Amino acid sequence: MKSVGIDAVEIWAGKLKLDLPETFAPEKDEDPDKYRKGLGLVNSSFPDTYEDIVTMGANAAKRLMDRKGLKPDDIGRIDVATESAFDNSKPVSTYIAGCLEQVYDEDFHHANKGERKFACIAGTQSIDDAYNWIKAGRNRGRSAIVVATDTALYARGSSGEATQGAGAVALLITEDPSMVELSTEQGYGSADETDFLKPNQQFPSVDGKRSMQVYLARMREAVEDFESVAWDMHPEDLEYIPFHTPFPGMVRKAGLLGYRHMIRDTEIEDELAGEIGRQPREGEYEDWDTYEDAIRDYMDKLKQTDMYQSWYAETIEPTLGLAREVGNWYTGSVHVARASALKHAAEEDIDLTGEQMLVGSYGSGAQAEIHAETVQEGWKEEIEQLTIDEQLAARYDLDFDEYEQVHDVHNHDMTVDVEEFTIPNGEFVFAGIGRMNERKYEYVE
Ligand code: CAA
Repeated sequence: MKSVGIDAVEIWAGKLKLDLPETFAPEKDEDPDKYRKGLGLVNSSFPDTYEDIVTMGANAAKRLMDRKGLKPDDIGRIDVATESAFDNSKPVSTYIAGCLEQVYDEDFHHANKGERKFACIAGTQSIDDAYNWIKAGRNRGRSAIVVATDTALYARGSSGEATQGAGAVALLITEDPSMVELSTEQGYGSADETDFLKPNQQFPSVDGKRSMQVYLARMREAVEDFESVAWDMHPEDLEYIPFHTPFPGMVRKAGLLGYRHMIRDTEIEDELAGEIGRQPREGEYEDWDTYEDAIRDYMDKLKQTDMYQSWYAETIEPTLGLAREVGNWYTGSVHVARASALKHAAEEDIDLTGEQMLVGSYGSGAQAEIHAETVQEGWKEEIEQLTIDEQLAARYDLDFDEYEQVHDVHNHDMTVDVEEFTIPNGEFVFAGIGRMNERKYEYVE
């Protein structure tokens, strides 16, 4: 059986940041702790005036190719996952390949290019496409590049404005990967939902509270589906669980539900029984409402236990470090969570080779997917090459007026003239609109 998975990852963060507790909250008359403690966010990344989904994606992909010593001929697929596309026909991957062709001698004329759409889960689906392509032996020895790139902007004044972000993740999918091998087993939870959508509009229509319930419901279905084809999960078998992270507070809820599920009928449930009782079982209650009340009560007690808190600190918290600093990157978000966990392990000198992670992806509309990943020998060498800490430290710190200007610059319905806040250096930049309304890009040395 071929081993297929993620060989390497690169992350490109938008070059601007908005400090949510200090800059955004006071303007909205909100308590900064809503961000620090509730949503779990400190900063959001924003694109500078010359950045967009193409530049961020192309810059991440170029860094990936340079670092891995790859030429265009080594790449057989370029798949872009985004929910911020500006064209209903021409895929963003053609723009990204066009950018890369400006700086390499060869071209990507024999690579299959596409664009995947299913809200935030599309990045994971693109990895699946690449995985299947390699497993099927159709890759002619070549690798695939998956780029998950988004400017996650919401209409000003909407509830989602608190959870914005922008950035790109480029992933190299290969046979015998250095970083993580993907399980063949997958679980899905998928249903026609109207929680978050963009019906031919740039900014989402979102029912925030409902979107959170749908996230949890679909994730639960996906876990059950995964267990039906794979194995029953146990907290001690999983080193990390990177989830789609629209904001860390969402993952706090998913983590608690997941833990309750995993410990049911295990020695952990028995051990906790003296302190908080056993988990309510549906059959023991006369109606659904009383059962739900009992579950809520159990969960409230469960989250206070030392056992849960130390599991959360070790297994979930390390996945959230980058998200707290960048906000929601939609399609890139779960891949930022994986990178965050691996980065944490490298910094703490934790030996991960051979360990398992469970990855929980989610896209509104709605679908969740669960699969397992086994960490491979080269993970540390790969993850230590990320420059994300330096990128985050170098971001320009926007004041509130500047934030509103940047939001307007990236609003497709507005034309505003705003000076850039940072100076591009060795990267692709947006260079204007062409005669067929196409976007143009150039490489700045
Ligand atoms: N101290 C501590 N905590 C505080 C606080 C304070 N002073 N003030 C508020 N909080 C807590 C609240 O109790 C709440 O936590 P709980 O949910 O655990 O109760 C949290 O901070 C957020 O506060 P609000 O609910 O008052 O915040 P809100 O009204 O702004 O709504 C939101 C939050 C619904 C997530 C909104 O930001 C939103 O619509 N976001 C976009 C949609 C979204 O991200 N949905 C997530 C699931 S869908 C998905 O994952 C796909 C995707 O990427 C979009």
